[in-house]
Amino acid sequence: MSVHVIADTRDRLSTLSAMLERQPAFTSELLAGASLRHNDIDAVVVAADLGKVENISALKAVSANLKRVAKRIFLIDRKGRLSVVQAYALGATHVLGNPVSQAQLLAKLADGDAVATSQDEIVSVGQEAASAGAASIASMFSAVLSGAPVDVRAAKNAGSKIAESIGENGLSNWLTTVRRHHEGTYQHCLLVTGIAIDFGLSLGMAKADVERLYSAAMFHDIGKARIPLVVLDKPGRLDPGERALIETHPAAGHEALKENPGISPEILDAVRHHHEFLDGSGYPDALCAGSIKDIVRMLTISDIFAALIEHRTYKPTMPREKAYEILLGMHGKLERSLVEAFREVALSR
Ligand SMILES: [Fe+2]
Ligand SMILES: [Fe+2]
Repeated sequence: MSVHVIADTRDRLSTLSAMLERQPAFTSELLAGASLRHNDIDAVVVAADLGKVENISALKAVSANLKRVAKRIFLIDRKGRLSVVQAYALGATHVLGNPVSQAQLLAKLADGDAVATSQDEIVSVGQEAASAGAASIASMFSAVLSGAPVDVRAAKNAGSKIAESIGENGLSNWLTTVRRHHEGTYQHCLLVTGIAIDFGLSLGMAKADVERLYSAAMFHDIGKARIPLVVLDKPGRLDPGERALIETHPAAGHEALKENPGISPEILDAVRHHHEFLDGSGYPDALCAGSIKDIVRMLTISDIFAALIEHRTYKPTMPREKAYEILLGMHGKLERSLVEAFREVALSR
């Protein structure tokens, strides 16, 4: 078997080379400037700190060549959920924690199956993440109703499980699982979180930014806890009074979270402003383009898309293509370049 090693430091390169030099066809290169241009590589071993933006960019630059290799083993420093997600998003077929032993690495290289996940495992991983997410959103809503502090850590943990599920199994599986098992506002929050994560991963955002994005998504509609269900779940059109009531939810969410020490100003801003539009026609503060941050712009796009493709008992589910057309038609309200970048998430991921 021909094995190629890519590492972000000379130390790592030499450690791995020492482990693998007995492989019949062994080559290696540093990640900075890597080309992966050789043909006939059976397996590639990537050892890099995925917390570094430059490493992610370098891996994205070789992703087309990387994906031509059948077996792609990523060694990651901490086997935290998000590192695992990122490794899979960057093209890994297997992930091992570093430092890895020679025996572990050789066993993984000898292992016949390229991708071990069966359809059953995909469904149960997705369902577990969706249940954790729904439980966390439910407890946030009841905390807001009773005036108790929101458990920020539980929400972030649930967000990271969702990120793991999407990194491993893709957005489409997530959408199917959530729409099949959850309803109403919980379904919506889970969909927005999953879509926002996939949007962030598709843009190659750094781990910390993806975390901010999914935290903002988990909390974004928390203010709806204060809105009666008859209004929230009303089929069909809302009257002006009901619409005005619904439009209080971003400020109510901001109010519920602002004293919470676990919530950063950035997440608070996203909760308050996820219904603002670039042309100033949104609410609650009628902000214009310059005052709306990138993370909020991404959240708004994910939110609208999720609302369009939700499964509701009283209306047919809108196909993703149709929902994306509606986003494209929202001239001046959403950032055009982000909507263009969202195409891949909306239609093919
Ligand atoms: Fe909202
Ligand atoms: Fe929403």
